[in-house]
Amino acid sequence: DKGHFTYDPGFVATAACESGITYIDGAEGVLLHRGYPIDQLADNSNFVELSYLLLFGELPSDEQYETFKGLITNHTMVHEQIVNFFKGFRRDAHPMAIVCGVVGGLAAFYHDNLDISDEKQRRVSAIRLIAKMPTIAAMSYKYNIGQPFNYPRNDLNYAENFLYMMFSNPCEEFKINPVFAKAMDRIFMLHADHEQNASTSTVRLAGSTGANPFACISAGIAALWGPAHGGANEAVLNMLDEIGDESEENIQRFIDKAKDKDDPFKLMGFGHRVYKNFDPRAKVMKETCDEVLAELGKADDPKLKIAKRLEQIALEDDYFVERKLYPNVDFYSGIILNAIGIPTNMFTVIFAVARTIGWISHWNEMHSNGFRIGRPRQLYIGHTQRDYPTK
Ligand code: SDX
Repeated sequence: DKGHFTYDPGFVATAACESGITYIDGAEGVLLHRGYPIDQLADNSNFVELSYLLLFGELPSDEQYETFKGLITNHTMVHEQIVNFFKGFRRDAHPMAIVCGVVGGLAAFYHDNLDISDEKQRRVSAIRLIAKMPTIAAMSYKYNIGQPFNYPRNDLNYAENFLYMMFSNPCEEFKINPVFAKAMDRIFMLHADHEQNASTSTVRLAGSTGANPFACISAGIAALWGPAHGGANEAVLNMLDEIGDESEENIQRFIDKAKDKDDPFKLMGFGHRVYKNFDPRAKVMKETCDEVLAELGKADDPKLKIAKRLEQIALEDDYFVERKLYPNVDFYSGIILNAIGIPTNMFTVIFAVARTIGWISHWNEMHSNGFRIGRPRQLYIGHTQRDYPTK
């Protein structure tokens, strides 16, 4: 028995670690952050409050919330020398490559006098990362398109500031669209943490060696980039573009491709290692998608129509039904980001901005609870011992 939950011995044998941050029930489609259901948090909270909850374990009082929000606001700028990191990349470098490199490079600025055995210093590192990720992400986009970087503003909330740094330019006054800002905050919340997924496990494994938090988060960003994981949101949009229209035969052709074992094509945004039911985040994401597109008068957006038709047909297809393949968090997020005007090569960067709080909360939990170095074992399937041939 582990607190309120009991696990069968087989499951316990496979568990990578103990954690109290996020609970998932894949069969029932349940996701709890420190016990609170994701849909209730999405409807009533915001990304900064959720970040506090994930990091410290309880919802903040008004005073704790204002202090935490103020600390994040006051750490959003990056060291002016970090601008030079960007100049080392080709202009057409993928923003994930830039963000992965720059975040790892933060260690060069904040690592030397960092004692990670001290909870207070771990907390400062966490706040630095939560605060600087949107700034670094927006800088990677501005660098890509050859526009000047925007400094963060202290009068804007987390999501507004990100959109400002992304889209403001010196030639015109930037107006925050409240619908976009609310959708952006919702997307950050829905991607914040998800138990021991591939990138979080990467962060924990790197952290188990005692590596500094910036190097660990950079490792998590690298793992997230793959199309089977965080890269799926970008791949969903590319897939919807490739499908082209919501005609029956067209969609069925892609569903048949996804079922063809000889074809590596997978229906992006579908399936999950844990969820064998609807991903609860996908439901909230779909509602947000409808709200944003309706607000923009784009309810008949062709990509949305293709996505909804694809979902409907896939959920009736035996191959998907037998394998319990449902839409996951990435299926609708790209359509929202696309409607907000964010380019597809920034989608996984936004996932990384959001997931940083999950990664650093797991890293901090590991350090707070004590840990040993991670050392996965293998089933050896190679040669038995043999002698080197004598000449
Ligand atoms: C994320 O772990 C997390 O929590 C991740 C994440 C998070 O928040 O951190 O939730 C974020 O990564 C979501 C997943 C995003 N990826 C995609 O949408 C890419 C498309 N999905 C597939 O690549 C796949 O579903 C995975 C990678 C997500 C899961 O792969 P698994 O664990 O191998 O899937 P499975 O074991 O459940 O597959 C069962 C069967 C297999 O066929 P059989 O061998 O039984 O014949 O279903 C097939 C798979 O080939 N299958 C698919 C499919 N997903 C699984 N077939 C077609 N299209 C798909 N999308």
